[in-house]
Amino acid sequence: MVSSNQRLQKVIAQAGLASRRKAETLITDGRVSVNGQVVTTLGTQVGPGDQVSVDGVPIEGREKLVYYLLNKPRGVVTTNHDEKARATVIDLLPEVTERIYPVGRLDYDTTGALLLTNDGTLANQLMHPKGRVDKVYVAKVQGIATESQLQPLRSGVVLNGRKTAPAQAEVERVDAGKKNSWVRITIHEGRHHQVKEMLAKVGLPVQKLKRERYAFLDLVGLQPGEFRSLSHQEVSRLKQGDYRTLRRK
Ligand code: URA
Repeated sequence: MVSSNQRLQKVIAQAGLASRRKAETLITDGRVSVNGQVVTTLGTQVGPGDQVSVDGVPIEGREKLVYYLLNKPRGVVTTNHDEKARATVIDLLPEVTERIYPVGRLDYDTTGALLLTNDGTLANQLMHPKGRVDKVYVAKVQGIATESQLQPLRSGVVLNGRKTAPAQAEVERVDAGKKNSWVRITIHEGRHHQVKEMLAKVGLPVQKLKRERYAFLDLVGLQPGEFRSLSHQEVSRLKQGDYRTLRRK
């Protein structure tokens, strides 16, 4: 039920179901009804006692769309339910009551930026192979990494019979004494174990992997296991397809 007299599109937007503009489209597309009658006129006033529904479902019965960025720690699975009863990323957001799920996945032992939402439209958009979301990883690898070793990753390497898209890759640091290195790599595909397999392919087995950025979202202010809500501005940037990272020099 609506609490005071308001424009229909505002009521839908305030319920967290859509942006104001998307709410207008829902109305003009004939998907909104007031007290059981389809209403397609923008600006229709609704008031206390009016029952607003979208696609036949009353708005208060619908889930608000929510968006979280988690700094995934090591040792949790990126799924909603694990057959082996291991801790999942969902267990890390106990106070969230909406039915959120992870957008893509990080391995059990990988840490870093992971988006969780109940917005299936945005999740599908981001996970679409043509989506081109930049994902920046920092890998601790065994051995002294050289620029020439990374060169094949910049043009693409064949994994399971299919060439990877060109990646950005650079050596960030080398520990000559311990014989390991840190490599920063940016990819926009999301194949299973992709970064580990790409680096193994050029002779640099991964010891630790962290995703530092997902599109423009970084881990500033988030310790492993911590999460935060995305701002409205961040959500609309993602919806608009702004997947650029801010590149470090
Ligand atoms: N690539 C990997 O190999 N593992 C991850 O968790 C993410 C990307």
